[in-house]
Amino acid sequence: MTRLTLARPDDWHLHLRDGAALRSVVAFTAARFGRAVIMPNLRPPVTTTAMALEYKARIGAALPAGCSFDPLMTLYLTDSTPPEEVDRALESGAVCGFKYYPAGATTHSDSGVTRLERAFPVLERMEERGLVLQVHGEVTDGDVDVFDRERVFIDRHLSRIVSRHPRLRVVLEHVTTREAVEFVRAQGDCVAATVTPQHLLLNRNALFAGGIRPHHFCLPVLKREHDRMALVEVVASGHPRFFLGTDSAPHARHDKESACGCAGVFSAPAAIELYAEAFEQAGALGRLEAFASHLGADFYRLPRNRGSITLVKEPWTVPASCPFGEGDIVPFRAGTEVAWRLDVPAGVA
Ligand code: DOR
Ligand code: ZN
Repeated sequence: MTRLTLARPDDWHLHLRDGAALRSVVAFTAARFGRAVIMPNLRPPVTTTAMALEYKARIGAALPAGCSFDPLMTLYLTDSTPPEEVDRALESGAVCGFKYYPAGATTHSDSGVTRLERAFPVLERMEERGLVLQVHGEVTDGDVDVFDRERVFIDRHLSRIVSRHPRLRVVLEHVTTREAVEFVRAQGDCVAATVTPQHLLLNRNALFAGGIRPHHFCLPVLKREHDRMALVEVVASGHPRFFLGTDSAPHARHDKESACGCAGVFSAPAAIELYAEAFEQAGALGRLEAFASHLGADFYRLPRNRGSITLVKEPWTVPASCPFGEGDIVPFRAGTEVAWRLDVPAGVA
C-alpha cells in the first residue's frame, strides 16, 4: 500500500501550552487532527470552566486562518474542585472532562490531587452527569521505583476509582505497561486508554542509546520491550477501548538539554505519520483508521469527523529543530526519516 486515506483523526491527549509557545506548535496538530483534548497543566492550571473558555479562545486565535480545528477542553482537578464545577463544565458545551494529576507526578502537577478521597465528591458528580475522567496513572511516592509507578497506581488507586464509580468513564492516559493494558482490557465499556507514538515505537533502551537522550524522556517513562509489545499487540488487535493520544508535550530545547531536563516528547510535527509507521511495522495498517479516527470519538460520545487526510508511503526527514517562541524545540525523530508523509493538509472536519 502506498496511499492511505483516513477519516480525519483526533488527538485525545495533547499539550499546547500558551502564548508564544502555543502559537509555535498549534498548526502542526491542526494540519493533521480535527479535534484534540487540550491538557490543562498551564501555570496557573486551568481549574475552572471560565478559565477553560478563555484558554480555548486563545487557542482559536493562534490557529492559522481558515483552519477548522476544534479544541476540546479539560479541567485540572484539585483537592478543592467543587462538584458544581462539573455542572458548569457540562453546561459550557466546551469541556469534555477533568484531568486527574496525582500531585507532583509530572510537569506542573503540584496543584493536583493529594489524596484520592478528596476527589470522590467530584467523581460522583462526573459519574452522574457523564463527564470523562482522564487519569495520569502514576504514584509519586519516592520509595516506588520510577518504572513501577504506573503499575502501583493501578493497584492502589485506579482499581478503587473504577470499583467505587462503575459508571464513570475513565481514560488511563498514555499507557506504558503490560499490566496497564491487561487492567484496561479486563474492565467494562467505561474504561479506556490512550497510547502515544513513542510508547509504541521505543523501549527504555532509547533513553540511553550511546548516551543519555533527553528528547526521549517523558512521563510515564518508556518501559521494557515486553511492555512495548503489549501496547503494539493491543492496538494491532483493534481493541475498541485503546485509541490515539499523542501526549505531544513541547519544551524548549534548553529545558530538555539540561542537567535536570523536563519530561515530554514533542511528536506533533509527525504524529499521525509515526502512528502509521508503528501500525505498518505491526502488520496492522488496516487498523489505523479506527484507532486514530473512530474509537476515541465513540468513547467520548462525540460524532466522528467528516473529511479525511491522506498519507503517502514516501520517506521524509523530520526537521532537526523547529522555532519555539524566542528559542527552538527538538521534535521526536528530529533529523531522521519517517516512512509515511502527510499528503493533503487536513480537509474540512
Ligand atoms: O512527559 C510528560 N510531559 N508527561 C506529562 O505527564 C506531562 C507532560 C508535560 O506537560 O510536559
Ligand atoms: Zn500529558
